[in-house]
Amino acid sequence: MRAVSAHADFPTLHVSNHPAVLHKLALLRDETTEHKKFRELVREISWLVGYEALADARLSPVPVQTPIELTEGARLADRIGLVPILRAGLGMVDAMLELMPTAQVWHLGLFRDERTLRPVEYYNKLPDHSTVDLCLILDPMLATGGSATAAIEVLKEWGATRIKLINLIAAPEGVRAVASAHPDVAIHTAALDRQLNERGYIMPGLGDAGDRQFGTGVG
Ligand code: PRP
Ligand code: URA
Repeated sequence: MRAVSAHADFPTLHVSNHPAVLHKLALLRDETTEHKKFRELVREISWLVGYEALADARLSPVPVQTPIELTEGARLADRIGLVPILRAGLGMVDAMLELMPTAQVWHLGLFRDERTLRPVEYYNKLPDHSTVDLCLILDPMLATGGSATAAIEVLKEWGATRIKLINLIAAPEGVRAVASAHPDVAIHTAALDRQLNERGYIMPGLGDAGDRQFGTGVG
């Protein structure tokens, strides 16, 4: 797989350019893609973006006895914490656990007030002190950046020192907000879209990621 380099306009942003990601992204955006297929695509793209985001995870050496001889292998040395933002981030968890079966999962419930577009926290069961070396925040959408910024602040208060944000679609407004408040947090996404509309939705985007996964839209 090709390495993803930092974006020219945003040094902390990494946008995937892999053909498999781009192919699946078009299907994800398509309004005719039904919920089951949409969930599968969220999972598959999360795996690919997550794989790229883990490129600098720390390793420790481990001896391995093959049928032929003793050799040196490697295993993940970082204790990894996955932090899905409820609800929409839930669909990204299984893919990330496939990549890192020993990761801890800490749920954080935030929803965006439709009127103010500000995040409201409604669920947080993090223990008193950080138990991980690297936190990966999982949320398909980075729009105004309010939810991501709030999540990063919660995690920093918790004691997290290395944090990455994994998205599927980001808006420049959200990237700018996160990058200026938290220049130490790398952002990995499958796409950087054009802009937000007047209701804070990403254009062209995919609509409401939570509703499309869980079938809770109008109708
Ligand atoms: C969506 C999305 C992000 C947030 C992004 O969640 O999953 O958490 O909006 O918007 P922002 O960058 O402007 O904060 P939503 O509030 O719709 O909740 P849901 O996941 O429960 O649908
Ligand atoms: N949340 C979504 O689900 N979609 C957007 O476009 C913006 C925020």
